[in-house]
Amino acid sequence: MKAINVGLLGIGTVGSGTFKVLSRNAEEITRRAGREIRIAMIADRDIEKAKKLAGGSAIVTDDAFKVASSPDIDIVVELIGGTTVARQLVLEAIKNGKHVVTANKALLALYGNEIFAAAQKAGVIVAFEAAVAGGIPIIKALREGLTANRIEWIAGIINGTSNYILSEMREKGASFADALKDAQALGYAELDPTFDIEGIDAAHKLTLMASIAFGIPTQFDKAYTEGISKLTREDITYAEELGYRIKLLGITKRTEKGIELRVHPTLIPAKRLIANVEGVMNAILVKGDAVGATMYYGAGAGSEPTASAVVADLVDVTRMHTSDPEHRVPHLAFQPDAMSDVAILPMSEVETAYYLRMRAFDKPGVLADVTRILADLGISIDAMVQKEPIEGEEHVDIIMLTHRTLEKHIDCAISKIEALAVISGSVKKIRLEELNRN
Ligand code: NDP
Ligand code: HSE
Repeated sequence: MKAINVGLLGIGTVGSGTFKVLSRNAEEITRRAGREIRIAMIADRDIEKAKKLAGGSAIVTDDAFKVASSPDIDIVVELIGGTTVARQLVLEAIKNGKHVVTANKALLALYGNEIFAAAQKAGVIVAFEAAVAGGIPIIKALREGLTANRIEWIAGIINGTSNYILSEMREKGASFADALKDAQALGYAELDPTFDIEGIDAAHKLTLMASIAFGIPTQFDKAYTEGISKLTREDITYAEELGYRIKLLGITKRTEKGIELRVHPTLIPAKRLIANVEGVMNAILVKGDAVGATMYYGAGAGSEPTASAVVADLVDVTRMHTSDPEHRVPHLAFQPDAMSDVAILPMSEVETAYYLRMRAFDKPGVLADVTRILADLGISIDAMVQKEPIEGEEHVDIIMLTHRTLEKHIDCAISKIEALAVISGSVKKIRLEELNRN
């Protein structure tokens, strides 16, 4: 059978990994796909680098649009990143009747509705396994493996860079800046690393998973996003002393009031498997009504782990290339005319437990004042620790874990606590999730 011709846009970390994996495993991949998958064209700004990688096996250009419109190309693989040129290229490829494979979660979280509609209309596939959790086949699991289930919630460590930073800080006492520098050198971080450390990249991925899980359009603008840049070493240590680990989690949950869509640092019981996921590894818990809780684990970033997902999509698209568009797996798991308009909840309506840390004058009556405020708002305390005062200091750290309450109640309590004369500075709030089977 005739080879399928691929146009590769971008040969940075993921693009070069894709070329290498596809070349190295060519024989087995052909046996799996049923025909040869051949990189026929490569576009990158650095032509010399592209020529060196291709070694004469592909046409090389610095004009990615030439690839997206070439009549010789069947599948365009977009690995340049960003949301401007990448969007134009993907739409151009679709317009020219080409299937698209991309690892670009930012692009799909922001413009997924437009891109999937264009692909549907053109009868082509946009595959994006590599866009969520690097090498873990979570899109396939959610869209196909768990298709029998009513998905109830998803909670995941879905940014390798921030997990790497938290692990390096906790295990090796590394500084935030040094750990970030390492993650960049290892090819894990986005071009703009604030996407990683401020939770934006995780929110892009969570947006895509929520759409697939609940059959809703992509709504990145409604995601609550908080990163790890304000976490302190004290919080990591205090959480540890109370039996918890802090992880940057993406959580999406179906509730009676609407859908939660949130990314933030979260205390998780240290005994949970997911609390022990370290370094660049990602892990995603998915709760389905029939299957219960399932967990998916693997490398969330990096050259060849991400290439593994890109190449898997290439094989999938090759297999589905000739099938009737009406009978292909829908891009967001649900048929486009069967999407739901259930609302994303504002954070004030989200219910969770909390870790609170405050600095208070070490004198009688302080705890009574704080607990009265919490009690008046119906917030009950699960655990409390008062640290020994540091010599020469008149303040002590008080750490409280609360039971579940609405975010609007805890925020109201925090402003009242901060207004107390005996409290110094602001109260640190970190959300806490037990992540048990329910
Ligand atoms: P890189 O920056 O390493 O690679 C991008 C490549 O594309 C670079 O060689 C870049 O050249 C080239 N490029 C950029 N714009 C153009 C253009 N207009 N025309 C031609 N070439 C262009 O990025 P990554 O490989 O890390 O990431 C690629 C995509 O994969 C992103 O969407 C990212 O979010 C996603 N991703 C990345 C993962 C990772 O672990 N790195 C994991 C999962 C997804 P130049 O350097 O000169 O700009
Ligand atoms: N920058 C991303 C991360 C790459 O660190 O997880 C993988 O999507």
